[in-house]
Amino acid sequence: MKTLSPPPRLLMGPGPINCYPRVLTAMSTQLVGQYDPVMTGYMNEVMALYRQVFMTQNKQTFLVDGTSRAGIEAVLVSAIEPGDKVLVPIFGRFGHLLAEIAERCDADVHTIEVEWGQVFTPEQIEDAIKRVQPKMLAIVQGDTSTTMLQPLEHLGEICRRHDVLFYSDATASIGGNPFETDKWQLDAVSVGLQKCLGGPSGSAPITLNERYVELVGKRRHVEAGIRSSHHENGKSSRIRSNYFDLPMIMDYWGSERLNHHTEAASMLYCARECAINLIEEGIENTIVRHKVAGDAMLAGVKALNLMPFGDLAHKMHNVVGVYIPDCVDGETIRHQMLHDFNIEIGTSFGPLQGKIWRIGTMGYNARPDAVYQTLQSLETVLRRNGHAMPLGEAVDNAYAVYASEHSTAKNTDEEK
Ligand SMILES: Cc1ncc(COP(=O)(O)O)c(C=O)c1O
Repeated sequence: MKTLSPPPRLLMGPGPINCYPRVLTAMSTQLVGQYDPVMTGYMNEVMALYRQVFMTQNKQTFLVDGTSRAGIEAVLVSAIEPGDKVLVPIFGRFGHLLAEIAERCDADVHTIEVEWGQVFTPEQIEDAIKRVQPKMLAIVQGDTSTTMLQPLEHLGEICRRHDVLFYSDATASIGGNPFETDKWQLDAVSVGLQKCLGGPSGSAPITLNERYVELVGKRRHVEAGIRSSHHENGKSSRIRSNYFDLPMIMDYWGSERLNHHTEAASMLYCARECAINLIEEGIENTIVRHKVAGDAMLAGVKALNLMPFGDLAHKMHNVVGVYIPDCVDGETIRHQMLHDFNIEIGTSFGPLQGKIWRIGTMGYNARPDAVYQTLQSLETVLRRNGHAMPLGEAVDNAYAVYASEHSTAKNTDEEK
């Protein structure tokens, strides 16, 4: 077998994306034992770093090993007891995922839906909460399947008023769009690395507030073989997953360091580096970088005579959907982009399958050169497939977005 040598793809789909080089370097760093004070020191650093990423004071902020859905599953299976009511507003594929995981926890799942390409108003969600009276509201912030960003800032207050737990999956949006755990009164949040945080998938940072921790603490049942006489069982039912048992994972990350799984050390190095990268650049600056790259890509695709998908007032900064023009075959275009230009753009699922492409600008790839290369290559491929457009305008329009951003930033600096 040949040495591993993947082609130098530019990943401009809805994620995963190319990693920041420093994240790749961190992942290939040598291991230390899981109770080595160096390693437990790194674990503590990761907790502190992700408190900044999530904008929270929550003590319980750590990693669940596994891809983003591991974080989702851990939050849901640890909190939901059979028969508990869970409300899931669905505006894309990942809302369906939350509902399906909640169903597997034997929750009494209630859903409300809007057409793909739209988001919910706070009133729609509050009406459903009044009707269903759920124990938990579980909602995605940015759903890459539709490119929409659900506003969350008013939902925490509504949930508190109705005594509902508030959980959000912000996998696809954190780091590229505003997200404030404490200010928005979220009780639990889970994310992944493979979007705006600029890492590979395989680690799911989560944060849990006291309200959530107290609830799942009632279900604490320490595994036989590691339990001691001081471990008492909680009064509520045992969590139905061992791997995703958050009280046990908290005991591993906490001062007791009670062995649960063996921490995925290379992924921890990687998650740590993603957070440092974000914090060093500045969360606000990184969000602006994603917004400008997203605006430049949007201006570019419009100039390619491609129609953007969905309610643009609620578009995520880091991905845009565009309708596939009737005169071309969507998969042929993607194939040529990949094989002739080494650029990946995304296809779609469910009701949007075959109708839109999704083009991402996130993490390491939220850069002008990545935007220009993608637009220039797409123009060439579209032209060769018979799609008409004014040549050269896409990249020029993207340049103009970057130029106006630079002049705004310069003026703001001068005013200071
Ligand atoms: C919003 C959202 N949630 C969950 C997931 C699932 O992530 P994973 O494939 O890492 O389990 C994704 C992946 O794209 C996502 O965009």
